[in-house]
Amino acid sequence: MSDRLFIFDTTLRDGEQVPGCQLNTVEKIQVAKQLEALGVDIIEAGFPISSPGDFNSVIEISKAVTWPTICALTRAVEKDIDVAAESLKYAKHKRIHTGIGTSDAHIKYKFNSNREEIIERAVAAVKYAKRYVEDVEFYAEDAGRTDNEYLARVVEAVVKAGATVVNIPDTTGYCLPTVYYEKIKYLKEHVDGIDKAIISTHCHNDLGMATANTLHGVLGGARQVEVTINGIGERAGNTSLEEIAMILKCHKGIGVDTNINTTKIYPTSRMVSSLMNMPVQPNKAVVGRNAFAHSSGIHQDGVLKNVNTYEIMNPKDVGLDENSIVLTARSGRAALKYRMSVLGVDVSDEQKVDQIYEAFLRLADKKKEITDDDVMMLAGADRTASHSIKLDFLQVTTGLGVRSVASIGLDISGQKFEAAATGNGPVDAAIKALKKIILKQMTLKEFTIQAISKGSDDVGKVHMQVEYDGSLYYGFGANTDIVTASVEAYIDCINKFKNKS
Ligand code: KIV
Ligand code: ZN
Repeated sequence: MSDRLFIFDTTLRDGEQVPGCQLNTVEKIQVAKQLEALGVDIIEAGFPISSPGDFNSVIEISKAVTWPTICALTRAVEKDIDVAAESLKYAKHKRIHTGIGTSDAHIKYKFNSNREEIIERAVAAVKYAKRYVEDVEFYAEDAGRTDNEYLARVVEAVVKAGATVVNIPDTTGYCLPTVYYEKIKYLKEHVDGIDKAIISTHCHNDLGMATANTLHGVLGGARQVEVTINGIGERAGNTSLEEIAMILKCHKGIGVDTNINTTKIYPTSRMVSSLMNMPVQPNKAVVGRNAFAHSSGIHQDGVLKNVNTYEIMNPKDVGLDENSIVLTARSGRAALKYRMSVLGVDVSDEQKVDQIYEAFLRLADKKKEITDDDVMMLAGADRTASHSIKLDFLQVTTGLGVRSVASIGLDISGQKFEAAATGNGPVDAAIKALKKIILKQMTLKEFTIQAISKGSDDVGKVHMQVEYDGSLYYGFGANTDIVTASVEAYIDCINKFKNKS
């Protein structure tokens, strides 16, 4: 009989902390519902004290989701815990996740404190959270660099205070898998009362060891893993959910089972990538575009003779529909709708499907084949519907030996504006023209152009960061014309200059 491993997804908290990955509440609800369909046990929905947006998202996700536990993060601070408890009031199953740094570096430099005082603060936070909820998870931040003997004392104290889960984060991604394994095993063997709590892993990927560490944590006795979709998260990211789920599916001998419906992995990955404007690297394990693509002659030959020669997982097990209908300008609305549903897009609103289908036909006129990324891009296209500034038209003349010239038209809350400018390239000319209409002191800080797949007719994706009034704003644009995509990304940034004149 296999042990049950609980999957704690922190895409909407640790993942969403990544610059440029911020989602609005509607998008977060969409992701949370998809995580519920995927079968995650706990959804970390946010850090409610950090902003009114996070607070509100935890409330709305709590209302929208039925069976997973909704978790809210706090520091070991009473006010944080009060706000987290308030944000969880509609959750059917609720958890407060509180904690404090336990490594010497954290104790000395972050808290200017000492080991005994940190234990007192940890215990006080757990007891305070217990006033509100039964299910309290404690995290010992930087546990990866905390010595095991002291860590065991902290864990014993918080379990005695009522913690139901103890999270042992490798916050800096420093641990070696064997060291992390020993750490978890040490806690299992040396903490009095550890059977009253579940030990959780939370591994970061700074040295590319997050998945290996998480797996070793499970081998050492952890029965909850904290993961994100596509491994997104602070710096180099967190352990990716899809990797852990598929390792456990492929290696039944490990003897732990999850509740994950692995066929929902691919649609969930696409949804998160698209909503967060965060491309998945093509060679990413399990969900990368090339994860199941056999390109060398020897491999193709082997796979054609018998798929077991080079394939350890069936693509269908992760929800990759190999026989998907190729979408072209001749594809009907039903084919598009089917593809959208496979990709995890909500297709219940027929009017919205109609709008996406019209945009699909326009794009299919320009491209031979519409890819999954294109479909996700089209499905998200109406995210700009509420923007007050929209690109009306753009005309650019450019080429070798001539200075680029751009004319631009903007629609600002229904009023039309036009301007023209020259520049050292088409994007420079277009943005200079735009700046003649929008007279704000803004500076372009980062600019990345990416083709989604292959082919000169492909959709280009543009990610931008613009600095305005001391803050950075992230924008995104996607178009078969990369100059238009760039201007759209710039306008996306400007539309986010909230409440600033
Ligand atoms: O990495 C970390 O230590 C965390 C904690 C806040 C759980 O994200
Ligand atoms: Zn983390």
